[in-house]
Amino acid sequence: MLAARMSRIASSPTMKGLIAAEQLRKQGFDVVDLGAGEPDFSTPDHVKRAGHAAIDANFTKYTANTGTSELKQAICARYRADYGVDYTEPEVIVTAGGKQALANAALALFGPGDEVITHAPGWPTIFEQVKLAEASLVIVRSRPEDGFTLNAQMFLDAITPRTKGIIINSPANPTGALISEQELTTIAKAAAAKGIWVVLDLTYEKLIYEPVPHNLPGVLRRELRDRSVIAGSASKAYAMTGWRCGWTLGPKEVISACGALQSHQTSNACSITQRATVAALNGPQECVTEMLEEYRVRRDKVWEWMTADPRIKCVKPSGAFYLFFDISELLSPNGIRTSAEFADRLIAESHVVTTAGEAFDAPGFIRVSYANSLENLRKAVDRIEIFVKALDRGQPVAAR
Ligand SMILES: Cc1ncc(COP(=O)(O)O)c(C=O)c1O
Repeated sequence: MLAARMSRIASSPTMKGLIAAEQLRKQGFDVVDLGAGEPDFSTPDHVKRAGHAAIDANFTKYTANTGTSELKQAICARYRADYGVDYTEPEVIVTAGGKQALANAALALFGPGDEVITHAPGWPTIFEQVKLAEASLVIVRSRPEDGFTLNAQMFLDAITPRTKGIIINSPANPTGALISEQELTTIAKAAAAKGIWVVLDLTYEKLIYEPVPHNLPGVLRRELRDRSVIAGSASKAYAMTGWRCGWTLGPKEVISACGALQSHQTSNACSITQRATVAALNGPQECVTEMLEEYRVRRDKVWEWMTADPRIKCVKPSGAFYLFFDISELLSPNGIRTSAEFADRLIAESHVVTTAGEAFDAPGFIRVSYANSLENLRKAVDRIEIFVKALDRGQPVAAR
């Protein structure tokens, strides 16, 4: 009935928990949702005001399908201020979120016969977008014993004559790991020599806890100017997930191809959102730092609480707002056998939503989003502790 391409992709597994949580809530249960990949903070007031002002000024029509000039300039100015890189308007397209920015890039660059390398544990949408572009997905693995850091060698070892692209997400979802400037430089030099594209997903670029050098745009601009693409987003940095605003930066030809694709798919990102994002990018950046400091406190607390059980292991993440716990020691052939089953039972019996590692091609783990209040996080961890104790006794937790 459906087109063949639909047999190659599955709908987003990270949305599964949302649906289960919604059903339980409808039945009146108190659900703690640590599955969501979005800030619990409100969009900063000055950004909201810009959105209201856009509506009041009737800025509610189509814009240029690649985005307003004002926003493209604001994006270029932000990257210039943050990284010292010199993108110009024709090298930018405004998209409906980082997701569309990456989808544009995958469709514009990759096709049948091409191999595209990316890393796991990783964000499933990147895998599925490669498949939607009908290219072959090649997965390399970062390892918990290295803190999941991405090193150049793992990518270089996977290069074949068919490799057309490498997609890197740093800070990464779900591990929070980073790639260093040095490792990216090595990859970029090899990519330049072999004519391979590097696509960099910087959706979590503002959420890095330690002041480590992370000028990845600078590296790509220097080493691989003509073959690199950056996807960025307002979603996580400015608590703007629902507004849907992202961008793709890259060579003019690629951006113009993205524009052609978008012109037949979604046209422009919402006009009101574009005005609000100008305020976010050009306005004071303290709101970002304040949220980051709050995330840091939560990260440290949840890490400490959860790893009090020595069977639960986790490398403290450098960025993003997820903890990726290795729970394999809690699994057994006679008890809960997989992390998917663990996450399902945790929802059903304890009403705590997490995301199973299977969603990120990493069975044996669960992802906990700490973009939630400390109170809710404590409540969730208490419930997880009770759940694990019941598991040790071989009993289900009594439904609440
Ligand atoms: C790794 C990664 N990239 C990109 C995105 C895209 O987010 P958005 O489309 O809201 O900008 C997400 C969202 O969860 C993500 O986790």
